[in-house]
Amino acid sequence: MLYINEIDIKEKRLFIRVDCNVPLDKNLNITDDTRIRRILPTINYALDENAAIILSSHLGRPKGKRIPEMSLAPVVKRLSRLLHKEVKLAPDCVGEEVKKMVAEMQPGDVIFLENLRFHPGETANDPEFAKELASLAEIYINDAFAVSHRAHASVVGVPQYTEICAAGFLLKDELTYFHRALEDPARPLVAVIGGSKVSSKLEALENLLKRVDKMIIGGAMGNTFLKAIGYDVGNSFVENDLLETAEKLLKKAHNNGVKLYLPVDCVVAEAIEPPAETKIVPVQEVPKRWYILDIGPATTTLFGEALQNARTIVWNGPMGAFEMDAFSRGTMAMVHHITNTYALTIVGGGDTDVAIHKAGASDKFSYISTGGGAFLELLEGKTLPGIAVLEECAKRTKNE
Ligand code: 3PG
Repeated sequence: MLYINEIDIKEKRLFIRVDCNVPLDKNLNITDDTRIRRILPTINYALDENAAIILSSHLGRPKGKRIPEMSLAPVVKRLSRLLHKEVKLAPDCVGEEVKKMVAEMQPGDVIFLENLRFHPGETANDPEFAKELASLAEIYINDAFAVSHRAHASVVGVPQYTEICAAGFLLKDELTYFHRALEDPARPLVAVIGGSKVSSKLEALENLLKRVDKMIIGGAMGNTFLKAIGYDVGNSFVENDLLETAEKLLKKAHNNGVKLYLPVDCVVAEAIEPPAETKIVPVQEVPKRWYILDIGPATTTLFGEALQNARTIVWNGPMGAFEMDAFSRGTMAMVHHITNTYALTIVGGGDTDVAIHKAGASDKFSYISTGGGAFLELLEGKTLPGIAVLEECAKRTKNE
């Protein structure tokens, strides 16, 4: 794959796919602008090279319809402020008006196309739509790691119709850190996996069990494992159809020599919402009809000890229902344990990221991925379509 600094972009017109799918509150204020800040190095580099920049992104899932609340206007306003430079929002991402705006661009200008997903052609990877987007620029840059697992027009179509394609600096960082953590890790390599469902992380668990030295499992998915080995988990969320699978995964860990850690105690509540009565119990003593909502203090000590000699840690998924303060201690304690090691620490997945922000520890990790689904697909051992197409394009360029 080629990177933006390996090709000649001087005074060229670039189509840069970014992922500015940022969270907005009901007044359309951006509540976390990390994804916008993380594309600044690529944009600033292109500006230094005097390129004309056409940015494109999706926001939400408007399903092919123009939904005003999903306009990229708030993103453009924030980006403009961060760049200290005017960024023009195009009225659409294709069409005559956009072509005219692009034709009038001067080196150093920045235009942001309106939400790609206002057109059904984006998610359908419609070739005509992709060709029209591709016709806007000479060079395609992907700096949208978080959407690179989607075979959408702006991710895989446009680079097929553009002669020169490369990755931006954010995509480069994401792949470099992932490689250091999972392809060529300093050992022991420990995976910390949480979140609610075994089913959504099944392939990731399978793949990780081939690579890691230790695996720590918490969150509601831990309940399924605890039930699989015979504990009564009360009314806790369990995927009963995956009990056998969980058992197989435990066997696989054993056969692969992976040290696997499950919770030994937990915070239970009579109801899911506070102010329900809560208590800390060993996993052997979960009261009937109560819910496990967090790992307990003995578990955080155990997990902390297991992490102590780690040299690489990959974390995906919270340890409990951390969005409610009463059940956030386990996840917060893991933030503390992980950041207190001397390991390379890589985090991915939306919820984990939110928990780390809540703990005010974002700058204490080696790398926090901007990807949710994309990061998970890398953990599953898959090649992302958006990456594969850049590799093909680089081969094409080198053969010419
Ligand atoms: C994300 O937020 O994970 C990416 O922007 C991808 O969004 P999507 O799941 O709607 O494709």
